[in-house]
Amino acid sequence: MTEAENRPNVARMYDYYLGGCHNFAADRAAAEEILKIFPDTGVAAQSNRAFLRRVVRWAAEQGVRQFLDIGAGLPTQGNVHEVVRAIRPDARVVYVDHDEVAVAYARRLLPTDGRTVVLQGDLRRPGELLADPTLRATIDLSEPVAVLLLAVLHFVPDADDPYAAVAKLRDATVPGSVLALSHLTLDGLPTLPTEQGTAIYRRSSPLVPRSRDEVARFLDGYELVEPGLIKVAAWRPDGEPQAAVSHGYGGVGVRR
Ligand SMILES: C[S@@+](CC[C@H](N)C(=O)[O-])C[C@H]1O[C@@H](n2cnc3c(N)ncnc32)[C@H](O)[C@@H]1O
Repeated sequence: MTEAENRPNVARMYDYYLGGCHNFAADRAAAEEILKIFPDTGVAAQSNRAFLRRVVRWAAEQGVRQFLDIGAGLPTQGNVHEVVRAIRPDARVVYVDHDEVAVAYARRLLPTDGRTVVLQGDLRRPGELLADPTLRATIDLSEPVAVLLLAVLHFVPDADDPYAAVAKLRDATVPGSVLALSHLTLDGLPTLPTEQGTAIYRRSSPLVPRSRDEVARFLDGYELVEPGLIKVAAWRPDGEPQAAVSHGYGGVGVRR
C-alpha cells in the first residue's frame, strides 16, 4: 500500500459518503469516525450533489455553455457534463482537482471527447490555473463561464487567501458569468462534536467551516440569484426526492 493510500483523503472520504467504491481502508475508517459524530453526513453529501445538479441545470438554462468545476472530486452519478449536456449538448466542461488520485480516476472514467477535460490544478493558484493551455483551449474567457466551487472552499484556510483566489477567478470572467458555491458551516452546531470532526479531517486536510457572513463575502461582485445564500437543500428544490439535510450554505451569483 502506498503512503497516499495509508492517509485518509477528503476526495475519497466524500466518495465513501456518497456510496462510491473509489476509496481505501484509511478513507473508510476516517469517514466512519465522522459518521459516528455526524450520522447524517452521507445524506448531507447527497444533498450537496443534488444542489450541484440544480445549479448546473439552472446555469445551462440561462444559456451558459462553459463550466469550470474546481475541486470536482471523483466522478460520481450526475456529473456536471452529464447534467449540462442534457440541455446544451455543445457545452464544454473543465474538471479541476488538486488531488492526483481524483484526477487519475476522473481521467479514466470521464469521456475524452475534447469538450470534457480533466486538469490537475489548485484553487489556491488561480493564475496558474487560468493560464493552463488545456483550459484556454477548452474555455473561451470572452464568453460567460459558470465557475463551480462546491464543497471545496472549506478546505482552503484564510492563510491561503481564498477570497483573493475567488476574486481573481471572478475578474477573469466576463459579465453574465456565474459563480456557484457551497460551503460547510457550523452555524448553530455545538462546539465539542465539531471540534472532534475538524480534528479527524486535519489528518488529511485543514477544514475551515465558515459562518454565513464569511461565505457571503465570496460572492462579492456577483448579483445573488434568488433565494440567496441559504442551506443547500433549500435552494430551489425541484421535486427530486431528497432529505432536507444540509451541512452547508449554497448560493449562486451572476457577474455584473
Ligand atoms: C468534498 S469534495 C467536493 C466534490 C464536488 N465539488 C462536490 O461538491 O460534489 C472536495 C474536493 O475538493 C478538492 N480540493 C480541496 N482543496 C483543493 C484545492 N486547493 N484545489 C483544488 N481542489 C481542491 C479535494 O481534493 C476534493 O476532491
